[in-house]
Amino acid sequence: MPGPVRQIGELIGAALDTRQSDIHTSYAGIVKKYDSSTLRAEIETATHNPVTLADGSLEFKPLPIIPDVPICHLSAPGFSITFPIAVGTPVLVVCTVLDPSQFRSTGLVGPPGFIRRHAIGYAHAIPSVAFGGPGPGLPGAAINALILEGASIQLGLGATDFIALAAKVLTELGVVKSSFDSHTHPYIDTPAGPATTSPPTVPMTTASSVAAVKAKAE
Ligand SMILES: [Fe+2]
Repeated sequence: MPGPVRQIGELIGAALDTRQSDIHTSYAGIVKKYDSSTLRAEIETATHNPVTLADGSLEFKPLPIIPDVPICHLSAPGFSITFPIAVGTPVLVVCTVLDPSQFRSTGLVGPPGFIRRHAIGYAHAIPSVAFGGPGPGLPGAAINALILEGASIQLGLGATDFIALAAKVLTELGVVKSSFDSHTHPYIDTPAGPATTSPPTVPMTTASSVAAVKAKAE
């Protein structure tokens, strides 16, 4: 290939490489800082970026920390599942093709705020799709149930009290029944003096199961 043609080819290749390095699609990421009040995080990408140097060798450079990334907890209008994000939580960072900020703030379909494609500023982080680290899913879990596993599981933003378990509630109801069925009353028998009644001749009805049909807890 003649020299000038090769040089043009190399220039085009270099320009394409430079342009491509500016196109952000998705990354394996790690949470470096998280603000639970805004649901936004600073994200470090987990893999360094290969850069071709002038001598043709490769250098691997870390990408800058991505600031102010919305964490995409699972949600639908009126419903949400919020994960306890912490420093070190692995996430999948996704950069949308076009700027979603206008739609996110207004909910209206229309032009994007910025017209650049695949910008790093369009990054969102999804915690439930993890590369490495704590794996998605629970090996050995039953395949016919939705399982929530974790040190603390809270149903409702304002929940403070604990759920009662069916077996324990039934045991406690059994204790109440036993106490009722065997209780007696002291009284004064005239003229014999202090005496005690017999236990009730009609025992308390045995409680039936208080178990939910679908939901289980431990
Ligand atoms: Fe009594």
